[in-house]
Amino acid sequence: MSARWDLSDWMQPRLQRVEHALSQWVDAQAPAGLGQAMRYAVLDGGKRLRPLLLLATAEAVGAGDSPAALRAACALELIHAYSLVHDDMPCMDNDVLRRGKPTVHVQFGQAQALLAGDALQALAFELLTPEDASVPLAVQAACVGLLARASGYWGMAGGQAIDLAHVGSRLSEDQLRQMHRLKTGALLLCSVQMGVACGAQVASGTRVALSRFGEVLGLAFQVVDDILDVTADSATLGKTAGKDAAADKPTYVALMGLQAAQHFADELAEQAQQALVDTGLPAQHLAALRGLAAMVVQRNH
Ligand code: IPE
Ligand code: IPE
Ligand code: MG
Ligand code: MG
Ligand code: MG
Repeated sequence: MSARWDLSDWMQPRLQRVEHALSQWVDAQAPAGLGQAMRYAVLDGGKRLRPLLLLATAEAVGAGDSPAALRAACALELIHAYSLVHDDMPCMDNDVLRRGKPTVHVQFGQAQALLAGDALQALAFELLTPEDASVPLAVQAACVGLLARASGYWGMAGGQAIDLAHVGSRLSEDQLRQMHRLKTGALLLCSVQMGVACGAQVASGTRVALSRFGEVLGLAFQVVDDILDVTADSATLGKTAGKDAAADKPTYVALMGLQAAQHFADELAEQAQQALVDTGLPAQHLAALRGLAAMVVQRNH
């Protein structure tokens, strides 16, 4: 591996590809202003961590340049953006600030926000199933199955239900871990799994280790999100800080305190790095995944 390898050099062209594709695919002409609300929810903001993880995984297994990988990366970001639009609504977290802008329901009204979320979810599955022959049918089917499961009742939506059902109550560590695995971890794990699904032949040991990486990193991501809610300010976060304690949400900080939560995140980050070693892939193929995993824990927003 070149000593000069740099994560931001790796990220920049990929972020550009993703931004450009999202801008092409989220249609401004959708009826009755829906396109404007959808574009507002998706474009101009967001770290794009899930698409980057997907592309990095696809590259690690030799499928980085495939049209399937770009489509899957964007599909994931659409599901994520939809989850944020709904998460912010008054019936859920009631947030007014997201990605440094007023939330979608503040800007466009609740009904339009609900519909924008619905439409983004459906669009994600359109992207995975192009009508031309650019993505093999087996890859399409694999990605549709993975994304549906990761976003549904036994994934993101299920985790959100647990989150809302436990406002004001204490969860055991096992229960909290399960909630985090579902509401946030599932989509991060799915980033890795869809990246693998874009590759032609991936050894089963590599597949298992990459899944372990995605699982551990997904949990680490939400632990850090809980920490940042306490330690960062709203301007840096682009969303209202301090909301979890104010709303009495079950979080890792509430469960174990700030310092222990930080140690736990560091421990998970180490486990993620170990899982990458266990993939058996050459180190130069893993540089981006290593860098992204470090970024998840070291980020300030
Ligand atoms: C925030 O996700 C919501 C959670 C799942 C914790 P991100 O921190 O990835 O948000 P963006 O996409 O960068 O805005
Ligand atoms: C949201 O978790 C997870 C989603 C599925 C959107 P949070 O409610 O903690 O996310 P933020 O802090 O509002 O971004
Ligand atoms: Mg929430
Ligand atoms: Mg929220
Ligand atoms: Mg949060």
